[in-house]
Amino acid sequence: MKNIAVIGAGTMGNGIAHVFAMHGHKVKLVDISDDRLAKAIKTIDKNLWRMVAKEKIKEEVKQQTIGNIETHTKMEEAVSDADLVIEAASEKLDIKLKIFKALDEHAPEGCILASNTSSISITKIAAATNRPDKVIGMHFMNPVPVMKLVEVIKGYGTSDETTTAILELSTALGKSPVKVNDYPGFVANRILMPMINEAIYTLFEGVAGVEEIDTVMKLGMAHPMGPLQLADFIGLDVCLSILHVLHDGFGNPKYAPCPLLVNMVTANKLGRKSMEGFYKYEADSKEMRVAPAFVS
Ligand code: CAA
Repeated sequence: MKNIAVIGAGTMGNGIAHVFAMHGHKVKLVDISDDRLAKAIKTIDKNLWRMVAKEKIKEEVKQQTIGNIETHTKMEEAVSDADLVIEAASEKLDIKLKIFKALDEHAPEGCILASNTSSISITKIAAATNRPDKVIGMHFMNPVPVMKLVEVIKGYGTSDETTTAILELSTALGKSPVKVNDYPGFVANRILMPMINEAIYTLFEGVAGVEEIDTVMKLGMAHPMGPLQLADFIGLDVCLSILHVLHDGFGNPKYAPCPLLVNMVTANKLGRKSMEGFYKYEADSKEMRVAPAFVS
């Protein structure tokens, strides 16, 4: 699978493009505007410099990686010779269905269509195409160049051949793939989101403050980030939409999102991307984390 197309140049899309290009694949990165594409290339360049500075890669690898990425605003053209397309667009079902319908029309017949969705049903996405056997979930974790896991989600109609190809490809990218079946939240978010939601309830009920909750989980459980800091990092809107998928999919009240999370998303306090969530952020501070937005 030499030719890869990545749809969406946001945080996940640019990380996915970075990893494939660094492993010698030709990547066509697609987004709706040149501005977004330019921003993505700048981020990839910055993250590659970080790897050069840490002596993880040589400078020539950085140049080759950048040279392996082309940017496109026309999806139809970009996917016309693709062996694999990875969709990393907005986490909205209607957008994904539209994209997969178009991918099915314009990508070559043998091309595998993968989605980086964090919770939308692969079986549902596959139903928008005439090739459900070649539709699969390839769920990378943020930051993509750093995190080892790829959660590979086998939809109801995904063939064993497609699944094996994606597991092998993920390993060749230096990742550790784990195969899971297509049920709400898959494995990663079925377990992660109730933990984050419980941390928000703990804050909401006044049991402890933001930093106290995160410190307990960081120092007590050796998590690299506390759950509230992680929620800010993922995006509170994304957390809320995944909790809705779990709640709707299982019909169990234990997945109901905490009212504080709902309020924060409604007030556009989305975490790091809006500069305020459970913490306040400044663009130029190293960790970007300045102070808790809540005091207990
Ligand atoms: N690109 C390349 N390298 C990067 C990077 C990036 N975007 N971001 C960080 N790094 C590298 C750094 O260079 C550094 O490398 P060394 O270990 O060689 O020094 C390493 O990662 C650690 O970075 P920092 O020292 O700057 O910062 P840190 O120690 O605080 O680690 C972190 C940052 C890796 C993000 C760490 O805090 C962490 O692991 N956090 C949890 C991340 C997590 O849980 N991700 C999953 C989110 S859920 C998801 O993605 C899926 C979903 O569906 C919601």
